[in-house]
Amino acid sequence: MTEAVQASLAELGQWLPWPHARYDRMDATRFVRDSMRSWREQRAYDFAIRGHDDPNRHLGNVSIWFTSRQFRVGEIGYWVRSDVTGQGVATEATAAMLSLGFGSLDMHRITLRIAVGNVSSERVAEKLGFTHEGVLRQVIKVGNQWVDHSIFSLLASEYRR
Ligand SMILES: CC(C)(COP(=O)(O)OP(=O)(O)OC[C@H]1O[C@@H](n2cnc3c(N)ncnc32)[C@H](O)[C@@H]1OP(=O)(O)O)[C@@H](O)C(=O)NCCC(=O)NCCS
Repeated sequence: MTEAVQASLAELGQWLPWPHARYDRMDATRFVRDSMRSWREQRAYDFAIRGHDDPNRHLGNVSIWFTSRQFRVGEIGYWVRSDVTGQGVATEATAAMLSLGFGSLDMHRITLRIAVGNVSSERVAEKLGFTHEGVLRQVIKVGNQWVDHSIFSLLASEYRR
């Protein structure tokens, strides 16, 4: 994971708040430790994305978590290493999360929050049948820049259809 993040810093750093130039094994270890705690507490489920041909090569991460348990609402996030983008990896990984979210996690609604201008991520949402609902203004800071995010959603009924 450390190597995949380091090799993708330019693209990841454009859209996500956490990658930084000195990202190292300690950062990755902290992420894995937090992930394990979240799994135990059934709050969030982080997955490594691995290829069929080389299962030891880290291709990225995909996660699904509850934003409201009461109303069974979840959210998905993902990143893919830069040298394998454009091959359907994020779409396949997100489709697997939808199957989990609308399947055994019994979610009613799943959202994606995508930085305005992140066209390849918007394309992932579009390919999977999400609906664009609107724009959340200045929700996160990437570097020194406040970033607007589009919110996309998919309902269980739409997924089944
Ligand atoms: C966004 C990201 C996850 C996409 O991963 P990916 O594996 O390349 O996604 P997919 O291949 O499944 O789909 C990407 C689609 O965007 C399209 N695309 C890529 N660059 C594009 C561009 N500049 N303009 C229009 N479409 C573009 C691809 O052609 C593909 O669509 P297609 O299948 O119709 O050809 C990856 O680029 C990434 O990790 N980026 C940095 C982190 C990030 O943005 N994470 C998401 C936060 S919401």
